[in-house]
Amino acid sequence: MKVLVVGSGGREHAIVNSVAKSSRVSKIYCAPGNAGIAGLAECVDIGVMDFDALTDFAVKEKIDLTIVAPDDPLVAGAVDAFEAKGIRAFGPRANAAILEGSKAFSKDLMKKYGIPTAQYENFDNAEDALKYLETARMPIVLKADGLALGKGVLICNTLEEAREGVKSIMLDKQFGAAGNRMVIEEFMTGREVSVLSFTDGKTIRPMTSAQDHKRAKDGDQGLNTGGMGTFSPSPFYTKEIDEFCMKNIYQPTVDAMAAEGRTFKGVIFFGLMLTEDGPKVLEYNARFGDPEAQVVLPRMNNDIIDVMEACIDGTLDKIELDFKDNAAVCVVLASDGYPVKYEKGYEIKGLDKFDGKDSYFAFHAGTKLKDGKVVTNGGRVLGITAMGPDLKQARSNAYEATKWVDFDNKYCRSDIGRAIDEA
Ligand SMILES: Nc1ncnc2c1ncn2[C@@H]1O[C@H](COP(=O)(O)OP(=O)(O)O)[C@@H](O)[C@H]1O
Ligand SMILES: [Mg+2]
Repeated sequence: MKVLVVGSGGREHAIVNSVAKSSRVSKIYCAPGNAGIAGLAECVDIGVMDFDALTDFAVKEKIDLTIVAPDDPLVAGAVDAFEAKGIRAFGPRANAAILEGSKAFSKDLMKKYGIPTAQYENFDNAEDALKYLETARMPIVLKADGLALGKGVLICNTLEEAREGVKSIMLDKQFGAAGNRMVIEEFMTGREVSVLSFTDGKTIRPMTSAQDHKRAKDGDQGLNTGGMGTFSPSPFYTKEIDEFCMKNIYQPTVDAMAAEGRTFKGVIFFGLMLTEDGPKVLEYNARFGDPEAQVVLPRMNNDIIDVMEACIDGTLDKIELDFKDNAAVCVVLASDGYPVKYEKGYEIKGLDKFDGKDSYFAFHAGTKLKDGKVVTNGGRVLGITAMGPDLKQARSNAYEATKWVDFDNKYCRSDIGRAIDEA
């Protein structure tokens, strides 16, 4: 069959890598893709939000399955657009992707269905939000309602900071229309864990747990980024926690969406905090995380096409997910200066060292081909991923492999997986 993957980052490279392993797939296209993906798929120069061009392409090439990976097109209705032209597509429709697209929606859903999460109020004007703050306990968490590139959450320690935050979100529109509404919620403490899952709208199958590192610098200092590294599984995500979450969070979320007439088919990413009062939902994403996909997918033994088709067809109850009993660590190689100011266009050397190795991967995030050479083309450049029998070994393998490649201004955190030592 012919598969089209929509997206261009490290997550999409990991997805394409899994699709390429399926014996059922004869041809892979990726729109727009990148230099690494080009080694496995034919890249077509169409942007992820250009639904007319994407769907025309899928019809013309008789694509059997399209996989929409990023949040923006999912929330804007890419899956609906493909389906309207008779193309099978993996991912939630717009009415279900709202689980990620509106934090106010997701909070109301959790409240209505008794799913554990932080106490909160939603606001659609700054005046009411500012009044609410007067009696609120600090620290407090402010969240722009809509998609904000992972930057729309402010943790405020003082009333003054919180007031400034409300103004910047709702009046100055720091995150654009994402700040037309906002959530103000209770500050929680605990360890964070991410759990990715497949669902067909009735059955939900959790994959495995992972943990990411959002800050740019060692010791979780510096600015928030798209993610500087990940590891999987999380040593803190025990069997008891998994059972609690299945019963109180995962299945109730899927059932709640169905009950609301918003059947969710695709990947749900649960952002969890393990608090003293038990696991609570920080947020939902309606897709694979990036770079979580880079440590989760290499560990999956199933044929990804079988699983995705079962999600679309409503037959996920017939599938058991099978994960390797090992660990994976991804260290992001970035361009120094990311996420603020950085240079692009430097040649990347040493990528051939990954050829033919099945437990080491150089997933491309921001790269492109220029005069036959692979050059840097973004803040996050590569996600160097390695597996190992346990987390410590996977981590030393991944750091070893970061040395195989070189480019000017190469930068990475040196403490990805530091939580492993605290377990
Ligand atoms: N209620 C909360 N209490 C403490 N920290 C929080 C809370 N909500 C969010 N955070 C922190 O902010 C980060 C980003 O929030 P999240 O809800 O995941 O939004 P997004 O990923 O869209 O920015 C979380 O990973 C967590 O570290
Ligand atoms: Mg998050």
